[in-house]
Amino acid sequence: MKNKYLDLIEKNLAEMLPSENCTEANVIKSIRYSLLAGGKRIRPTLLLAFNEIFGGDTQTALPFACAVEMIHTYSLIHDDLPCMDNDDLRRGKPSNHVVFGEDVALLAGDALQSLAFSSMLSADVLKKSGINGAIAAGFLANASGATGMVGGQVIDLETENKNPDIEAILEMYSKKTGALIKVSCEMGAALCGVYDDPNVKTYAENIGLAFQIVDDILDIESDTQTLGKPVGSDAENNKVNYVTKTGISESKKLVEKLTKSAIDALEQIPADTQFLQELAEQLAHRIK
Ligand code: IPE
Ligand code: IPE
Ligand code: MG
Ligand code: MG
Ligand code: MG
Repeated sequence: MKNKYLDLIEKNLAEMLPSENCTEANVIKSIRYSLLAGGKRIRPTLLLAFNEIFGGDTQTALPFACAVEMIHTYSLIHDDLPCMDNDDLRRGKPSNHVVFGEDVALLAGDALQSLAFSSMLSADVLKKSGINGAIAAGFLANASGATGMVGGQVIDLETENKNPDIEAILEMYSKKTGALIKVSCEMGAALCGVYDDPNVKTYAENIGLAFQIVDDILDIESDTQTLGKPVGSDAENNKVNYVTKTGISESKKLVEKLTKSAIDALEQIPADTQFLQELAEQLAHRIK
């Protein structure tokens, strides 16, 4: 299945970045380097797809979709730093800090976070999206912070060299990876005035967990060339995760189960959800 939103996302991300003709050119180059390096663009795709099924306007939703990708890219730049996972390759290129230095990489991540919020909260964007836009931006603030993605990253680092139980591992996944995936779905719906839809929530939570389990499987089974990031990073950092704990075959079973629950939830939504159904399947069976 082709991602029908991909070209729009790429074009808008490129247009939303500040120009390099300024004294801060280095940090802007660093942002561009990571943000425009490809990537699957899953989170903005989810946001736009949920927005569409609830009757939203794609142009109005685009700044929000790009904002989620900015937060995600900042999380990747920081995740690769020597003080975190210490990985030298990302999206098929040397990691941001390898090219720009740790100091600029750190600041590029910080700046991407601000850029995400200024993109959603400009007067022009809010005039179109109204109160739903402000609420969606608030959702993203919550999902990315200390009780969301950042919190999950902290738990991830704190459990290195430890032996967390399965419940703790899934809790960590639901935050470090699940939070941004879930909020992408919820923001797409919220922009249409749909809040707290239980089926959106179930789909989002299930694909979020499945996504990180597949990521952990690929870290073992794939190769660096295909992934565009180093394989074996988790073992190198002594991370105990669902896959090291239960084995590849159990992990794949859980991915199938989570994906089925996600698709079952979509079937409860009275709209054309075929794209989102296929996306869940594709993510479960992805090779990178
Ligand atoms: C990688 O995310 C980090 C995780 C949360 C597992 P993606 O697999 O979405 O990375 P890109 O955006 O395609 O590079
Ligand atoms: C990362 O998990 C989750 C983030 C919030 C970035 P990983 O550390 O497994 O992601 P990769 O494998 O480096 O992309
Ligand atoms: Mg990590
Ligand atoms: Mg990592
Ligand atoms: Mg990983």
